[in-house]
Amino acid sequence: MTIGILCSRVRVEEKLLFEAFEALGAPATRLDEREIAARVGDFHPDVDILLERSVSTSAGLVALQLFEAAGIPTINNYATSSLCADKIRTSLALAQAGVAQPVTEVAFSPEAALEAIERIGYPVVMKPATGSWGRLLARINDRDAAEAILEHKEVLGGVGHHIFYIQEYIRKPGRDIRAFVIGTEVICAIYRHSPHWITNTARGGQAANCPVTDELADICARAALAVSGGQGGVLAVDLLEAPGRGLLVCEVNHTMEFRNSIAPTGVDIPRRIAEYVLEHVGVRA
Ligand SMILES: Nc1ncnc2c1ncn2[C@@H]1O[C@H](COP(=O)(O)OP(=O)(O)O)[C@@H](O)[C@H]1O
Ligand SMILES: [Mg+2]
Repeated sequence: MTIGILCSRVRVEEKLLFEAFEALGAPATRLDEREIAARVGDFHPDVDILLERSVSTSAGLVALQLFEAAGIPTINNYATSSLCADKIRTSLALAQAGVAQPVTEVAFSPEAALEAIERIGYPVVMKPATGSWGRLLARINDRDAAEAILEHKEVLGGVGHHIFYIQEYIRKPGRDIRAFVIGTEVICAIYRHSPHWITNTARGGQAANCPVTDELADICARAALAVSGGQGGVLAVDLLEAPGRGLLVCEVNHTMEFRNSIAPTGVDIPRRIAEYVLEHVGVRA
């Protein structure tokens, strides 16, 4: 039985995952995508399952396709990962499944985007359709800012920034929620407190335990099912507490960081991930 972990950089998370597999008696092998050259149609990786943990989203997605084509089960699989990596596809999947999310519009030109922004009403949030760690998010408070950001994106941005993903701004209470889902079960959750409206821990948000209420467990299970074609996965759901409207799903992440969430929640997240991977290849942890 060989467990492969795909990662070029071993972050704290990957180190903890290797230790967790070791502790469960199933040591994992590191696969560095920089060392892979896969002959198309003739790629035979020597692993029984691949846990994808690449810091590079695009490399991770390509690797998943190569391993799946070679018949190797993957976590998260390509279908789920590629959907989560794309905020437009995620929003569409959530909408299809009736999972509550902020009002969101997608526009193809600065002119159409400005109309969408004014329809939603200021402030709005504009995000790159692919991205993480809160990078290149903009809260747009008025028309002057909207025009400037749209022009900058149009002139200076790459093709990925010429499609505009626009969302109503949710007046959340100085925090958001990140819930860790394994399969479809919320194993723990944190509040991310920040004086800044972007609450990612990578941007200085402080993690504190968040109780897993029935409402949280239910919306996260439905979000996990929605993004995974009904099978669940190893996912982190970001949620916003909307005054008077309850929880809204902001996004779903497929290779989440968790180093700051173990101590506040008291949950051994890497062990739970390792157990889930082993269950997938038929080993009872
Ligand atoms: N519509 C919104 N209203 C209010 N805050 C938001 C909204 N969208 C995102 N945020 C804040 O920005 C953070 C990052 O947004 P997110 O969509 O999760 O992008 P990323 O992939 O960069 O993490 C969220 O955790 C939240 O704090
Ligand atoms: Mg996020």
